[in-house]
Amino acid sequence: MTYKADDTRYASMKYRRTGKSGLLLPEISLGLWHNFGSVDSMRNQKAILRRAFDLGITHFDLANNYGPIPGSAEENFGVHYKRDFERYRDELIISTKAGYHMWDGPYGEWGSRKNLLSSLDQSLKRMQLDYVDIFYSHRFDPNTPLDETMGALATAVHSGRALYAGVSSYDAHQTREAKRILAGMGVPLLIHQPRYSMFDRTPEQSLFDTLGMEGIGSIVFSPLAQGMLTDRYLSGSAPKGSRAARNHFLKTTQIDPTYLERANGLNNIAAARGQSLAQLALTWVLRQPTVTSALIGASSVKQLEQNYAALSAPTLSVDEIRAIDEFAVHGTGR
Ligand SMILES: NC(=O)c1ccc[n+]([C@@H]2O[C@H](COP(=O)([O-])OP(=O)(O)OC[C@H]3O[C@@H](n4cnc5c(N)ncnc54)[C@H](OP(=O)(O)O)[C@@H]3O)[C@@H](O)[C@H]2O)c1
Repeated sequence: MTYKADDTRYASMKYRRTGKSGLLLPEISLGLWHNFGSVDSMRNQKAILRRAFDLGITHFDLANNYGPIPGSAEENFGVHYKRDFERYRDELIISTKAGYHMWDGPYGEWGSRKNLLSSLDQSLKRMQLDYVDIFYSHRFDPNTPLDETMGALATAVHSGRALYAGVSSYDAHQTREAKRILAGMGVPLLIHQPRYSMFDRTPEQSLFDTLGMEGIGSIVFSPLAQGMLTDRYLSGSAPKGSRAARNHFLKTTQIDPTYLERANGLNNIAAARGQSLAQLALTWVLRQPTVTSALIGASSVKQLEQNYAALSAPTLSVDEIRAIDEFAVHGTGR
């Protein structure tokens, strides 16, 4: 059936300004790292994407290598885009990245100009797009001059293949340098994509301060710690079909007694607020003023809807944040 977006899609989603830019992003964005590859059901993908857009989620995040197989998430997204979303192109923020291994030989990964721009051209073809909204350097390359990597991002923007430039998993110093170099080329550094959750608090050390001072936005990935900050594993085992059961980036060995004690402690705090653990985890990352958007994954429409409902929760009190700190311990579940 032809898809027509819900007329009420902008009624309740909240949008935050990305740093000091003109771009607003939804408080929850959807990533296509898992569940959108060639091994996954196209029907389920279609349902998740349509529901997301109907809920006001205007931002879909991809990377060249998402799958499996690598590239298939972009290819599948292209199919969904052509069928359902092409006429809504100006209402969508679509991002992709390059930097991790994508093809054989010396040019298939890291931060060279050759890798980034070839990869971007491949991504545009796979997604059947004329341009992406945000193009990221997926990881810092210690062996390529940062001027070269940022030069490739600037070319992507100047050539019209991308509207904005971003970096992912750069540390605070690398981020400041990236911003300085890009500014010299007339391109602002729009956004940083770091991992951040109750169980990975690395950006609190200095990155968030830097982003705040530099006026750069942030979209935090894996805010649910890949599912460990949901009710998925609270009983101590991995249900069939879950990411840990599939042993794909998450392993059953991560569900250890320390994890279970902390996750259940957080779950009790969530319950006292009338929230699920996943909802509390999202409310918690969004309490940071430098966080523009929480970048979630979902394997079903039901998960997506549950997570979206976190946005109607009351903000966390000082006492609640203090109580959470006891269980939100960096490094849990590694
Ligand atoms: N820049 C980078 O280097 C980088 C790295 C990783 C990710 N990312 C981006 O961040 C996005 C999100 O990453 P992520 O998928 O790890 O995020 P996440 O939101 O922490 O985890 C998503 C997974 O948690 C489970 N889940 C979600 N909601 C649930 C709910 N309400 N109840 C129970 N389980 C629930 C699902 O796993 P099940 O399969 O078990 O159902 C889902 O696939 C990616 O798609 C990608 O766009 C970027």
